[in-house]
Amino acid sequence: MIVAIDGPAASGKGTIAKRVAALYGLHHLDTGLLYRAVAKAVLDAGYPPDDVAQATAAAIALDLTKFDENALKTPAITEASSVIAAIPQVREALLDYQRAFAIRPPGAVLDGRDVGTVIAPGADVKLFVAATPEVRAKRRVLELKARGEAADEREVLADLLRRDERDSRRTAAPLKAAPDAHLLDTTHLGIDAAFRAAVDIIEAVRTGRKRR
Ligand code: DC
Repeated sequence: MIVAIDGPAASGKGTIAKRVAALYGLHHLDTGLLYRAVAKAVLDAGYPPDDVAQATAAAIALDLTKFDENALKTPAITEASSVIAAIPQVREALLDYQRAFAIRPPGAVLDGRDVGTVIAPGADVKLFVAATPEVRAKRRVLELKARGEAADEREVLADLLRRDERDSRRTAAPLKAAPDAHLLDTTHLGIDAAFRAAVDIIEAVRTGRKRR
């Protein structure tokens, strides 16, 4: 089974994806880490994130076997990854790896922005996870504080909105729900309820109670 989970930042898609993968014994790939790792390589080498040649070379050379998640979650990398993700050559360089990951037996859960539309358009189940920007900003603030970082809610909200806008407006594989994705709005759901709602949708699709 392949499960595609897309949505904007802090919608809950990452946590849902991890838990769905654990429940069904599937591989899990947080595709945002790929763009973050390219962003880190470019910034570490001293180039701006919109340097197409550097970003493309970094994407082609990327070691896809290990990611230091913690080092990839800094605000500077978060912002740069969104800029880098708009470069078509970068997306192209990361495409085959993601597609191969998706079809590796026994199947996989991938979360990101373009999984249901570009990476795995034939996925068995597609979820588009959403929540209001205000709720997502609150969640991001809690996450940042838990990591010991200072976080101002208004600044975090502005950053989120800027990133949403960039991720949705770009021409290369923009953030959008696939026509056959099931919308899961987590605005009023805690993570346990959001996970249960995701499993309900997956089970309904698997048993034919819902169209895929
Ligand atoms: O999911 P995330 O916040 O870690 O993703 C970081 C950035 O990477 C995000 O702003 C957009 C980009 N991204 C993308 O363009 N396509 C994906 N499938 C996943 C992430």
